[in-house]
Amino acid sequence: MRSPLPDFPWDRLLPDKQRAAAHPDGIVDLSVGTPVDPTPEVVQQALARAADSPGYPTTQGTQELREAAAGYLHRRLGVPGVSPDAVIPTVGSKEFVAWLPTMLGLGPGDVVVIPEAAYPTYAVGAQIAGATVVATDSTVALGPERVKLVWLNSPSNPTGKIFPADHLAKVVAWARERGALVASDECYFEFGWDSRPVSVLDPEVCGGSHEGLIAVYSLSKRSNLAGYRAGFVAGDPSCVQELLGVRKHAGMIVPGPVQAAMTAALHDDAHADEQRARYAARRDTLRHAFESAGFRVDHSEGSLYLWATRDEPCADTVRWCADRGVLVTPGDFYGAAGARHVRVAFTATDERVAAAATRLLATRDLA
Ligand SMILES: Cc1ncc(COP(=O)(O)O)c(C=O)c1O
Repeated sequence: MRSPLPDFPWDRLLPDKQRAAAHPDGIVDLSVGTPVDPTPEVVQQALARAADSPGYPTTQGTQELREAAAGYLHRRLGVPGVSPDAVIPTVGSKEFVAWLPTMLGLGPGDVVVIPEAAYPTYAVGAQIAGATVVATDSTVALGPERVKLVWLNSPSNPTGKIFPADHLAKVVAWARERGALVASDECYFEFGWDSRPVSVLDPEVCGGSHEGLIAVYSLSKRSNLAGYRAGFVAGDPSCVQELLGVRKHAGMIVPGPVQAAMTAALHDDAHADEQRARYAARRDTLRHAFESAGFRVDHSEGSLYLWATRDEPCADTVRWCADRGVLVTPGDFYGAAGARHVRVAFTATDERVAAAATRLLATRDLA
């Protein structure tokens, strides 16, 4: 390893977690964005049907899975013309994010640009490769560095920000001029609330060519499949083939039964609509409760998080919430830009979300 990786940030939250757990009605954990609702029946059945799986699956994924992914991109995201050969399944999207710089052969002297407030694995991936990380939302801020990879994440974890098509198009044009690859993490694409997410592969953004672009998708949130480890990437056909070559050698293979489950999940929208409606209701409840308790909610147009602030250091806000039995994540987990925000996940059960709202609204009533 060229440089030591950061401590796993969640360990730092333990004291606040214990504090929140001391609440007489129990902790409401809104810190980790892990799904809590059942894996859809249609997906479980597909997994069970594929349980007899003695042979090795292919790294490229079955033709059925790649066709289902291309169909999904067209039907659900408005991205036409993706060839099934330009799709590969991933073992969840986190492994792809963490290993992309290494798979691309990046190393010392190469620059990876990540969002100012970002999912920590973008930086970790660059560090594993020994590349340099620059955290900025503005390409104008970049000097003459040798930028090789630009990460986008819209809707964003943690801020919920959604970039409009014209902003994405500017980043794509900037990167293409410099020969940098744009990797767009679209894991939260299904969760646009106040505006409609746009894919980097959308013709309005990319001008109809996927050259220099890779989009990253996850079924963890859309289909409650976090436990299956199921994601896929699509984009520039030659880049996808290059990555496939590395992944074959490295054994980055999605298990056969999971490939069958993913195929079923990508053909079915009913369960995703149902899940989306659950999150919409939880989001409304929590937004109202946090705002009533004096928080300001910034961005948060999409994703599964509220980006909330009391205009104080985030550690103080985390403590304030923990004293009410509610665990949230300090914004500085996601970079210095988050120092005065907390991230509130709305991936808890209806019962726990209602408990959090009751506690927060009681704060307002006492004021
Ligand atoms: C922005 C972002 N990208 C990628 C992931 C990884 O998701 P998974 O590995 O479950 O597909 C997450 C998980 O929360 C995320 O928030």
